[in-house]
Formats: sequence, C-alpha cells, structure tokens
Amino acid sequence: MTHHSHALNTETPASPGLDGIIVATTRLSEVRGKEGHLILAGRAIEDLAGFVSFEEGVRHLWKETALPAGPTLFRDLAAARQAAWTAIPAMAALRSRSPILLLQTGLAGIQVPDVLHPAIAMTAAFPVLVAAAARLAEGQQPIPPDPGLGSAHDFLRMLDGTTPPMWKVEALNRYLVTIIDHGLNASTFAARVIASTQAGFQDAVIGGLAALKGPLHGGAPGPVLDMLDAIGTSGHPKQWIEAELAAGHRLMGFGHRIYRARDPRADVLKEGVRRLPKTERLALAEVVETAALAALRNRKPDRPLETNVEFYTAILLDGIGLERTLFTPVFAMGRVAGWCAHAAEQQAEGKLIRPKSLYAGPSPCGNDRNGTRASGMTGNESIS
Ligand code: ACO
Repeated sequence: MTHHSHALNTETPASPGLDGIIVATTRLSEVRGKEGHLILAGRAIEDLAGFVSFEEGVRHLWKETALPAGPTLFRDLAAARQAAWTAIPAMAALRSRSPILLLQTGLAGIQVPDVLHPAIAMTAAFPVLVAAAARLAEGQQPIPPDPGLGSAHDFLRMLDGTTPPMWKVEALNRYLVTIIDHGLNASTFAARVIASTQAGFQDAVIGGLAALKGPLHGGAPGPVLDMLDAIGTSGHPKQWIEAELAAGHRLMGFGHRIYRARDPRADVLKEGVRRLPKTERLALAEVVETAALAALRNRKPDRPLETNVEFYTAILLDGIGLERTLFTPVFAMGRVAGWCAHAAEQQAEGKLIRPKSLYAGPSPCGNDRNGTRASGMTGNESIS
C-alpha cells in the first residue's frame, strides 16, 4: 500500500521557484524593483553603462571579488581571446547546430593554460566563439582575434571581417555593461550552485549558459522584432496594437515582473538607441512604442506598464546589425562576467548549496510509519 499523506509532514512548506528566499549574500548587484534602481557594485547602472567599456565594467564588478581585476585586465582579456581560438575546430564539426550549442561546445573544448585565470579565459572566449559560431552557420571561415582591440570592437570585426564604426562599438559596450549582472537570476544561481561544488569557473559558465538558453530567461528579445515585423507589414501600428490587446494578447517588450515603476536598464538602452543613426526600422520602433504606451495606459490606467529592457535590447542589437539568433549568445557575452564574479563569491564562501526537497511519493511497502517526509541529510537521500 502506498501513502500520500502530506498531513503527516511537519517540515517547512516548499517554496516553488524559491520566490523571496535569500540564498546568497553578494557585493555584486542589487535589484531594487519597487524604486526602479539597479546598483552594480556600489554604482547606479545609469552612471556606468554608456560611460565605460566592457573591460572597465568587468573590472568594476570583479574588484569586489578575489578575481584578477588589476590594470592589466584589458591586456589579459585580449591575450586570452587567442587561447579561445584553439576551440574553433571542435565547433566547426557542428556548424549546422544552434549558435548556443556551438558556444557550449567551444567553451567545453577550451584548455585553459596554467598562466591564465579561468574566469579571464571564459570571459575572453565569448566574443571569439560567438563570432565564429555565427560565421560557421553562414558557411564562412571564422576570423582570428586581434589582441590590440577591446572585446566589443574585436567581436564586431570578427563577425563580418570589416572594421566596425565607433557608434556600433559604443552601442555594444553600453549593452554589455547594462546586462553584466542582475541579482540572483536563474543563470547566475545555476552558476553559483555549480561553483559551490568547487567544480570550477569553466563548468559554472557552461552551466550558466545552459540556464540562460531557456525562453523564460535569455531567449526573450526575438519576439519584440517579430512583433515589429508584423506591425510593419500591417502598415497600421495603432490598429494592430488595439486588435492585439482586444484579443487578450500581451505586447512584447512592455511590463516587468520586478521593476514596477521603471526598469533602469531600459532607460540606459533607450539612450543607446537614441544615438544610433536613424533608419526606417528605428522610426517604426518609435511609433510602436508611443502607440503601445498610450494603448496600455488607456486599458490599464492603474497599472504602470512601461517599455522594458527587452524592447530596447531588440532595437539596439538589431540596430547594430546583429541577427536575432545572436541575441542570446551576445547577452551571455556580457553576463559571463557576472557569472564568474558570483562563482568567485560562492567559492570564497566555501559552502555547498544543498537545499531540501519535500517528498510526496509512495512509502516503501509495509512502512506505515513515515508517510510523506521531507528528504535531505536526515531523510531518505544521501549527500549526493
Ligand atoms: N501587454 C499587455 N498587457 C499587459 C502586458 C503587456 N506587455 N504586461 C502586463 N499586462 C497586463 C496583464 O495582462 C494584466 O492584466 P489583467 O490584470 O487584466 O490580467 C496586467 O497588465 C498586470 O500584469 P501582471 O500580470 O501583474 O504582470 P506580470 O508581472 O505577471 O508580467 C510580464 C510581467 C511577464 C513581463 C508581462 O508584462 C509580459 O508578459 N510582458 C510581455 C512580454 C515581455 O516583454 N517579456 C520580457 C520581460 S523583460 C525581462 O524579462 C527581462
């Protein structure tokens, strides 16, 4: 006979999704949802993104950890891009697969030299591997890195083989810094769990990327462009938006679960979009944003529904010429620095992350003593 006796369980109830549970202390970032602020290692995101390069953003974050964040970081990252180049042949065999899979393969294939800190090796690898994955998918030869350039600049050059204009480099730096870290999001938590086993930075980064890949996390900006395409084709933005809302659908790129007043990252990226050369696509995005905000205010006057970070991410990355299949890999290119910083913090803490589960399965035959019981070290699970 089996038992499903929840009534016998006296443990703390489960918290699905760990909603509201604090599982780490960090010096890296603070998300203040109610006020609409994001603090990165003591500085408001508005005072950092758009003013510093990706490398300077990494230094700012990493100086709160034991990671190497000295004045040579720019040079070290540039040199480490060359070490990543050795992983390209393993990716070439999988050229028809998704860019994320190629990226995971490349990251796993990197042999980090002893002289290189693995966090530097991982962070430096992204521009090289993402550009290579994009070119391989197009049947083109990857282009080797140039250690004289910054990460964003070198990435754009490796992507299409030409020197990118500075406005593109600046826009990409702004984006990479904007999304470098954001509290204990799913991929960062995944990276911390892996780091807590002392598995190392390479594994923490590969695991973070696997978590980021899901549509509930890093896979979101694509639908904003799909929506813009549909509105552009219709030729009637206002009517399209009204019909969409009347059908009970949500407008992509508006609203946020945590930032109720404003998403500070959206403001920072909006400024980046404002600096892009004007195109028809940008003009359409502006019309759509104005019409969408008016329609949302009209329908939900009591609910602040603002443009979110995904809207401007899509417009900005599209504006600098990136394919939408690259949006998630490019997001990872910035967030990897956050994963490494959190992995370093977790390693320093030295505590294995090992929560409990609430057992709701059958009891062993003949055992009518326990009913449902919480598992864990004292329950029916071993340490593994
Ligand atoms: N378009 C139309 N209506 C919306 C939108 C939207 N984008 N966002 C919220 N609403 C409506 C809801 O339908 C709801 O109406 P109801 O009370 O009549 O049911 C009301 O506003 C309140 O919304 P909530 O349910 O409180 O919003 P929630 O916190 O659940 O959702 C979310 C946040 C998921 C981001 C939502 O705004 C949404 O689906 N937006 C569109 C998708 C999107 O842009 N995703 C990327 C988010 S950015 C990021 O994740 C980093």
